[in-house]
Amino acid sequence: MKITAAEFVMSNARVDKCPKESIPEYAFIGRSNVGKSSLINMLTSKKSLAKTSGRPGKTQLINHFKINQNWFLVDLPGYGYARVSKKEKRTFQKYITDYFLQREQLVCAFVLVDIRHEPQAVDIDFLRWMGENQIPFCMIFTKADKLKPAVIDQNIAAYNAKITEEVFEEAPKQFVTSSSKHLGKEELLSYIGEINEQFFKATHKN
Ligand code: GTP
Ligand code: MG
Repeated sequence: MKITAAEFVMSNARVDKCPKESIPEYAFIGRSNVGKSSLINMLTSKKSLAKTSGRPGKTQLINHFKINQNWFLVDLPGYGYARVSKKEKRTFQKYITDYFLQREQLVCAFVLVDIRHEPQAVDIDFLRWMGENQIPFCMIFTKADKLKPAVIDQNIAAYNAKITEEVFEEAPKQFVTSSSKHLGKEELLSYIGEINEQFFKATHKN
């Protein structure tokens, strides 16, 4: 699939204010600075469509981008834990959980993790939360340009050992990407293209 048009639509703090159109939507989520906004720019071949920064916390709202006039890419703020005061229970920020629990247009989320690091508790917890809430998702390893291929393989194996030990029976579908080297672009776009095709086939039947 080729992206021929990509435009910013709107930013919102709340999911109920997001666009109402029933077209397929793909969201990028992960810790701050993992490369969510950069990946959107890489996929759309537009350098500054989504705002990026070396400093964590750049993206603060739910940002919708309309692609080829008939589907959305969504850039989200990074997640972290928010403390629920009395119970000392740690949870993800409400605008993020609300988005995933309420956004009916979402057909697949991409959970980004930095390929350079060992599995982090917050990422493992988020993957578990997605599974528990039956949100369809894939994983994307980012910043692959920073490591040699053998280390990339080792780090993915370590990640999947942790996931299959603690969270899922099988590792979720995964992509390896580098926004600076344009790695993984074709794979991701063809995956999205397949889901879109199924979506439009099903809606035309009705
Ligand atoms: P928040 O909006 O703060 O949650 O961050 P984000 O996940 O959107 O990250 P962003 O795309 O703003 O990128 C953060 C930093 O990582 C920037 O300095 C990017 O240039 C850098 N970066 C992103 N992707 C890559 C990549 O594939 N390779 C390398 N080397 N750097 C990257
Ligand atoms: Mg961002």
